[in-house]
Amino acid sequence: MKRAVIRGIEASIPEYVLNNQEIEQLVDTSDEWIRERTGIVERHILKQDGLGTSEMGADAVRKLLAATGTSVDEVDMLVCATVTPDMLFPATANIICDKVGIKNVWGFDINAGCSGFIYSFTAVDAFIRAGRAKKIILVCGERMSGITDYTDRNTCPLFGDAAVAMLVEGTDDPNEGLIDYEHHVDGIGRHYLYQKAGGSCYPPTAETVARREHFIYQDGKTVFKYAVSNMADVSVAMMEKNNLKPEDIAYLIPHQANLRILAATGHRMGLSDDKILVNIERFGNTAGTSIPLVLWDFKNRFKKGDNLIISAFGAGFTWGALYYKWGI
Ligand SMILES: CC(C)(COP(=O)(O)OP(=O)(O)OC[C@H]1O[C@@H](n2cnc3c(N)ncnc32)[C@H](O)[C@@H]1OP(=O)(O)O)[C@@H](O)C(=O)NCCC(=O)NCCS
Repeated sequence: MKRAVIRGIEASIPEYVLNNQEIEQLVDTSDEWIRERTGIVERHILKQDGLGTSEMGADAVRKLLAATGTSVDEVDMLVCATVTPDMLFPATANIICDKVGIKNVWGFDINAGCSGFIYSFTAVDAFIRAGRAKKIILVCGERMSGITDYTDRNTCPLFGDAAVAMLVEGTDDPNEGLIDYEHHVDGIGRHYLYQKAGGSCYPPTAETVARREHFIYQDGKTVFKYAVSNMADVSVAMMEKNNLKPEDIAYLIPHQANLRILAATGHRMGLSDDKILVNIERFGNTAGTSIPLVLWDFKNRFKKGDNLIISAFGAGFTWGALYYKWGI
């Protein structure tokens, strides 16, 4: 049975850099606090009105098609993981297809918060295993700046925008591709990390706008506690299940929410700092896009067959880990 492997990966990063000094002008905070408590120095923001996640997603897909020499007719499916769709409907996957000229395919969006990549990659793997698709484009994209309240110091230093597109194919080679996964969900998370209004519970009104309920709300302290224990537990479980020792693992690719959380995860796994890949200082938290953004950023460092543990924790709560062997 074939399993999913990433054959190409390209990113779209908005030009505008929002640094900590500019955040200092917006809310009562300091560069020092943001660096010490989160590890973030700057993040990229898609500034222009009227441009959403699909703009960056389509840009990344065009680069991917060119880099891998793939024609639009070869694509079987396009799946998009996002919590910042262009609109509540139609799906951003459909809009990206239209923008890049991919026709006669099907696809859908997946909403799994910061676990967007691990959930969606596992979902497309199932279509590959079932023999129902040969070439799938997976896009992870977020315009987090569109739902970030730049008057709230608890959340506005954290988030950034980006999109990454991946070409996913099937492989029989035991030395590459998705080997194992474990995912979890706990709906208690809806009380601690959410965008309250704009859905069917609280449709938009002048009052919801005045109460700033269309922006991200996060109880950072509570989310931190859940994230730090669950991300480490699931990563260690993935190692134990597959008899992996720290020396067998080339790199941990953790969701980039907070430097302290991702370092704690790596240390619980017995990994040294050089095996814990980090780019949060340049991109902030790009939600479900942060893991593929690390894969893209460090791709020249990986060798075929490298054992990667990829783990995430996010809104829902959702969390999980992949055991993946690099295949480019
Ligand atoms: C958001 C987060 C960085 C806050 O860091 P923290 O060390 O936990 O900070 P706390 O929330 O405990 O707040 C400590 C104090 O700093 C203050 N503070 C919060 N943001 C601040 C800022 N930008 N600048 C200065 N002070 C700030 C708080 O008001 C609080 O003050 P108080 O004690 O007087 O109330 C951290 O909680 C976090 O990363 N949470 C998890 C994020 C995550 O994993 N999300 C999951 C997927 S997105």
